[in-house]
Amino acid sequence: TPVTPFTVPMTVPQTLRPVLRTATTDYYSVTMHRRRLEIVPGSRTEVYTYNGDLPGPTIRAFSGRRVVVRQRNRLHMPTAVHLHGGATAPEDDGSGQAVIPPGGERVYTYPNRQPHATLWMHDHTHHMEAEHLYRGLSSLYLLTDRTERALSLPRGRFDVPLVLRDAHLDADAQLVWNMDDADNRTTLLVNGRPWPRFEVQARRYRFRLVNSSNLRFFLLRLADGGDLTVIGSDGGLLEAPVTMPYLMISPGERLDVVVDFARYQPGTSVVLQNLMGPGPAEMVGQVMRFDVVPAKRPDRTSVPQRLRSLPPLPTPTVRRSIELRMDEPGSGGHQAYIDGKVFDPARIDTTIAWGSTEEWTVTNANVFMPHNFHMHLVQFRVLDRNGAPPDPTESGLKDTVIVWPGQSVRLQATFDTWRGVYPYHCHMVDHSAMGMMANLRIV
Ligand code: C2O
Ligand code: CU
Repeated sequence: TPVTPFTVPMTVPQTLRPVLRTATTDYYSVTMHRRRLEIVPGSRTEVYTYNGDLPGPTIRAFSGRRVVVRQRNRLHMPTAVHLHGGATAPEDDGSGQAVIPPGGERVYTYPNRQPHATLWMHDHTHHMEAEHLYRGLSSLYLLTDRTERALSLPRGRFDVPLVLRDAHLDADAQLVWNMDDADNRTTLLVNGRPWPRFEVQARRYRFRLVNSSNLRFFLLRLADGGDLTVIGSDGGLLEAPVTMPYLMISPGERLDVVVDFARYQPGTSVVLQNLMGPGPAEMVGQVMRFDVVPAKRPDRTSVPQRLRSLPPLPTPTVRRSIELRMDEPGSGGHQAYIDGKVFDPARIDTTIAWGSTEEWTVTNANVFMPHNFHMHLVQFRVLDRNGAPPDPTESGLKDTVIVWPGQSVRLQATFDTWRGVYPYHCHMVDHSAMGMMANLRIV
């Protein structure tokens, strides 16, 4: 490694300021352009950015207030911006055939008629989403509401995004892009910094974990085995917190976690480890380090035993089965499929009646390769995995769920917001770019 772990200070993405605020709407302006950023100390890495940063600046939105983002494309190729987890009109979903040409711009409207959640903006240009995300087009969109604000959870500088990803860097610290190159992406970044250190006060912190990797799953643990209190997932808070020794997070998933550093003596350092490959443990076995310093004032935050109420689960009226599969390494093929078909953006694969609740059984037909499953527009509920209850961290609203090799995951969703065409896909985005994506149409 050209980087000594825990020498680079972690940074927190800046909050984007609106260019205009009206009674109902916040207006933002974002420019996509190439930048050479210092990722490895002493080198400059060329990346694609939203507003010059990796990740880009964070948008903070409030349920019921509209957000309008003007996206200007100053890159040399077409782009499209998707708000992952957002309930947006099909034309603002960023996943259709409309792209922003080089030099062009497009205005995206986000109605925010949905509860609080840790949302995520990233590129979704057809067939190029994997490379564009890998090269840096990613930023956070934190949506809050009264339910969340009423709780005394850590906030402000104690509510910290940790955007995790990996990268394959060459000897000149340049990003190397190859499709499905998981084994070589062994530099781990948190908020765009390699194996950073982060100074924390001896008090409670809320961390918004986002796995923005193309392919890498993380199995996280504090080196001392200390408790991780999960309070939320993709679609916002869980009903009640769950205490976990480990956290599993696959590409596109989010976990909202509270850690109380008051249990450590100031001066203590705690490493956040990753117990899952691929890659050598000296590279991928550790993610970042927390350095504990004394608390500056008393911690008045808490994690209540009741966080929110989830909407009741209506009885599904339609049941479907979906199969994820890709050509296994060594098979000679390099494509990926849903129900045996490579993605065709012009094809409608599933037609859904507006207002209905559907139950989907999603099966991973591969023997070795895990996948996950993401649906646009809706937050779903995970019912079971091969008939067994899902992980307690999967008990809330989800838009992305792991499907291990050979497994079937049952989930249900209600399609009662927008009508139109939206994709569903594996969020290991190299897989979706290889074809593991399909379209549904709500009519
Ligand atoms: Cu996070 Cu279809 O995307
Ligand atoms: Cu996959």
